[in-house]
Amino acid sequence: MRVAVIHGANLRLLGRREPEVYGTDTLDDVNQAISGVGQELGVELEFFQSNHEGGILDFIEEAGERVDGFLVNPGALTHTSVGLRDAFLGVGKPFVEVHLSNPHAREPFRHRSFLADVAGGVVYGFGVDSYLLGLRGLVARLHRHPHSG
Ligand code: DQA
Repeated sequence: MRVAVIHGANLRLLGRREPEVYGTDTLDDVNQAISGVGQELGVELEFFQSNHEGGILDFIEEAGERVDGFLVNPGALTHTSVGLRDAFLGVGKPFVEVHLSNPHAREPFRHRSFLADVAGGVVYGFGVDSYLLGLRGLVARLHRHPHSG
């Protein structure tokens, strides 16, 4: 089983970006924690970060050929990108949307997600654990329904 982990806009700044909201772990720390769970579950992982919507759409299109599902924190693109929604629908592979913070407890413009209603699952507000719980949920889902988008 193979899963692509996508970090969207501004997530390369983790560790020094608004630590009171996002914590002090860097993106490398986050990826290491995800890798640990990946190993435990016997899942192969690949990681991708971009601040550019088009780059992420290209990646989803390419990776959609080789992975079974996606774990994604799109950052601010969550709240703006119809293209991201369409890319996931287009490749037809299950994905789980995760956020470090709980966007529903923040500004109203963060309450809308263009992905949540077509996601296989969502995990918000647990910091780094959102990714770890999201990966566990995605893998459980893939074991149950290997081919459903
Ligand atoms: C975020 C929440 C988004 O609203 C914000 O734009 C981010 C980070 C999170 O992980 O909490 O960049 O996706």
